[in-house]
This record gives sequence, structure tokens and C-alpha cells, in this order.
Amino acid sequence: MAEHVEVLITEEDVDARIQAIGEQISRDYEGRQVHLVCVLKGGSFFMCELAKRISVPVSLDFMSVSSYGKDTKSSGVVKIVKDLDESLKDKDVLVVEDIVDSGRTLSYLLEMLRDRGPKTLRLCTLLDKPERRVVDVHVDYTGFEIPDEFVVGYGLDYDQRYRNLPYIGIVKFEEASIETQ
Ligand code: IMP
Ligand code: MG
Repeated sequence: MAEHVEVLITEEDVDARIQAIGEQISRDYEGRQVHLVCVLKGGSFFMCELAKRISVPVSLDFMSVSSYGKDTKSSGVVKIVKDLDESLKDKDVLVVEDIVDSGRTLSYLLEMLRDRGPKTLRLCTLLDKPERRVVDVHVDYTGFEIPDEFVVGYGLDYDQRYRNLPYIGIVKFEEASIETQ
């Protein structure tokens, strides 16, 4: 289907916000080491940019989950596709996500990670769509609250494309192709 992408948040604005969150995290975790847990693939671009702007010691780990259900609608039941390499026991864990939408995936995931005994467990997301929330999830650090639109870029995809855009864009579907659907 033909579509195009309209800029919602510019590269400059995303970069400035990540810088500010990085500074905030550095203050909040002063004297400690922060263990960043990236949820692949969407969280990877944000995690790398954020990690570069944190001044306390940082360690990183990655996990990949898939939710059973349709692409843009998450069921909340999460299957671990790739688990973390390291234990979370007694670590100051900060989960780094691309977006919190319904909140189903994260509420399930956070509960699972909490069972692994981290000293602290917090959540940082680049984007939040509060209007779409179905399950309550406590977000500690938010980049931007956005309206209920399907967005891409900075790690977020539509059909596995657009993750590499250095800005956040809204996917617009072209009228002609909608008519012929
Ligand atoms: P939740 O369980 O509904 O919060 O699902 C969140 C997941 O859905 C995110 O990690 C994304 O993978 C995906 N998602 C939600 N909204 C968007 C969007 O606007 N663009 C791209 N992916 C999205
Ligand atoms: Mg995600």
C-alpha cells in the first residue's frame, strides 16, 4: 500500500529531549550503576542515543519479545524470543522502550522482570500515547506524549520499515490506495 510519512517530531527536538532525559537519569542514579534493558527492536535506537548521554556507569542488555496478536494491536501475552544474557539480581534496572501504547506488553514484561529480583526497576519510554492506555503502567521517564496516531522512525516501524528515520513521523496512507483496498 502506498503511504508517506509526515514529520511529527524533528530530529533536533528528539535529540534535545534525549539529552535532557540522559541528564535527569544521571542525576537520579548518582553514585550507582544503571543497567539498561533494551526491548528489541524498537528500543534500540533510543537506547544507544540515551546511553551516550548518561554520565554514571552504564551496563546494557537486550531482550526481544513478541506479542501474540495482530501487528498494531497487542494482546499483552508476551513470548520471549530472545532473553537477557545477564541476571537482574540486585541491579538498578531501567527498561528502555520505544513506545507505550495500550500498556499491555509492558505491564506483562515488567511483572516478569520484577520476579528476577532487581534492586530497582524503572521504565523509560521515548513515546507515550496516553489516550490508548488499557492497562495502567507507571512510566518513570517519558520523551514525548503523542496523540493517537501510528508513528514510525527512531526505531519504530511500519511493516519493518522506517526504523532508521532520525525523526518521528506519522504514516499517512494515500487516498487512491485506500479506495482500491
Ligand atoms: P502495547 O502493549 O500496546 O503498549 O504495545 C506496544 C508496542 O506496540 C510497541 O512496543 C510497538 O512495538 C508497537 N506500537 C504501538 N504503537 C505503535 C506505533 O504508533 N508505531 C509503531 N509501533 C507501535
Ligand atoms: Mg516496543
